[in-house]
Amino acid sequence: MSFVHIAHLTKRFGNHTAVGDVSFDVPEGSTLALLGPSGCGKTTILRCLAGLETPDGGTIEIGGNRVFDKVRHVDLMPEKRELGIVFQSYAVWPHMTVAENVAFPLKVRGIAAAERLRRASKMLETVGLKGFEDRSATLVSGGQQQRIALARALIHEPRLVLFDEALSNLDAQLREHMRMELRVLQERLGFTAVYVTHDQAEAFGLADTVVLMNQGTIETSGPARAVFAKPATAFVARFFGMNVLEAKIVGPVAGSNYVDVALNDRVTVRGVAGEKLDPTPGKTVLACIRKESVRADRVSSDGTRPATIEAMSFLGTAEEYIVDIQGVSLRASQPAIGFRRGDAVHVAMAADDWIVLP
Ligand SMILES: Nc1ncnc2c1ncn2[C@@H]1O[C@H](COP(=O)(O)OP(=O)(O)O)[C@@H](O)[C@H]1O
Ligand SMILES: [Mg+2]
Repeated sequence: MSFVHIAHLTKRFGNHTAVGDVSFDVPEGSTLALLGPSGCGKTTILRCLAGLETPDGGTIEIGGNRVFDKVRHVDLMPEKRELGIVFQSYAVWPHMTVAENVAFPLKVRGIAAAERLRRASKMLETVGLKGFEDRSATLVSGGQQQRIALARALIHEPRLVLFDEALSNLDAQLREHMRMELRVLQERLGFTAVYVTHDQAEAFGLADTVVLMNQGTIETSGPARAVFAKPATAFVARFFGMNVLEAKIVGPVAGSNYVDVALNDRVTVRGVAGEKLDPTPGKTVLACIRKESVRADRVSSDGTRPATIEAMSFLGTAEEYIVDIQGVSLRASQPAIGFRRGDAVHVAMAADDWIVLP
């Protein structure tokens, strides 16, 4: 059962189309991540869902209710859409205590003070802030302020919660911790969520479905693992940090899904043909491989190619290299071995790890 249904959503600012004909569904109780580079339209979609922005076209349904319909002139007020929102800026009110901040949505709904406090205390316990009720909201840390914002978004038990880069202001360790906690909280409370982020790890860590946006339209979407494992386009491959190289088709490998492509006049590799690939010899295509699938070793073995370390960067548990294979530069990432610039190495790359896209 889909809880959120968006069809042909369009939003323009002057001549600029911020969101162009976007459609997607969010099944009840699941999380959908809107992922993409800055300016691709993620926040605009979220604001349209919340009723904070009026779309130029399309329809939006939440929990079976049509909350926006351009043609039928339906445009439900934000407060009537019964959802919770958590923004990047915590937006905690400084003149209120922690409990007053959290209970505010209940006050707006006319719930009595004692009941507000009881529910605020319970929600504070849920987000790990038990005992913070009477503190001034500004006297707690950034991470705690974000928990306050989360508790405030959840206190009226919305069935849909919207997050906009909600963890981006936290430091890396706390962000990872909160990501786990959010996931657990969602499973416990059972709300449906739309999570906007530019951070792939956050999208994969939190979402069942990932929608990758590019300039106001959907570039690709699907289960997190599928979207990542099989990049649908060069944009997707680049967004996920893969090596993307211009290449020329040498020819398809008979009776298989492989193609041979030339990376330059000396280096030819075998890879998996992408869905819409035209394997005509001589065609210009893009050959993509993940950094982690390019492995440099000191010794040669079956199928390896001689190469030179062009650059290295130590990252702690892993090391990144740029390797030169007969004039082809590739980024590689692997557990720290300690190669230095100029070292002669042997590089292994599997045909199944190369993806050839139009
Ligand atoms: N209120 C606005 N007025 C004019 N342009 C806007 C407004 N809000 C967003 N935009 C433009 O719409 C595009 C999408 O913005 P946004 O949805 O904020 O992107 P994202 O959240 O993915 O970074 C951008 O080009 C942005 O400059
Ligand atoms: Mg944004």
